[in-house]
Amino acid sequence: MRSLFIVLEGPDAAGKSTQLRLLSAELSARGIPVVVTKEPGGTELGKHLRRLLLDPRRRIEPLAELFLLLADRHQHVEELIKPALAAGKTVISSRYTLSSLAYQGRGRGLSMDLVRRLNELATGGLQPDYTFLLDLPPEVARERTADRDRFEAEGMDFYSRVREAYLELIREVPNGHVIDATLPPEEVKRRILERLPLV
Ligand code: TYD
Repeated sequence: MRSLFIVLEGPDAAGKSTQLRLLSAELSARGIPVVVTKEPGGTELGKHLRRLLLDPRRRIEPLAELFLLLADRHQHVEELIKPALAAGKTVISSRYTLSSLAYQGRGRGLSMDLVRRLNELATGGLQPDYTFLLDLPPEVARERTADRDRFEAEGMDFYSRVREAYLELIREVPNGHVIDATLPPEEVKRRILERLPLV
């Protein structure tokens, strides 16, 4: 398998971290070098930004929130994703550009065109080879989350908008797939794997 850039998207509690673990183990077992990572927080700088972003006591303007996420993304692309791909590794990231379109664009109401242009600037145009949307109804997502960070404290309305945006956006993405995240983790993993060009 050539090195692939794979992105998992979807709401909190859709099981992205579990899939990172399962997919990483599966690919490693097949002898495919793999790096798993996440946004926000995939780099040292990103960990600081993540703490700021998730702190429920902090008030952050929507545009400031977007800039923090884009700073995280740019650092992530340059420091981790591009070098790993160049070294022949497959990279699986929990979240990438679609998260900003769904949350900051549709969720917070920033211009989708602005978010698109800034995503392009932050990533230098690096696109995932495969994107999997782990889709979960907002009610189920809410039941699954106990603690509430700054994002998880948002209401149902916010989450419904984010979900709708994701379902629209995934259709525009090359090799974008929707996976039913209410299924057991092993089945979600199977559905992801059967769509990847593994040899
Ligand atoms: P994540 O690490 O997936 O959350 P958790 O560990 O709680 O499952 O992401 C943290 C939060 O950041 C999540 O609520 C969504 C938000 N987020 C955005 O709003 N826009 C973005 O571009 C990204 C990358 C994350």
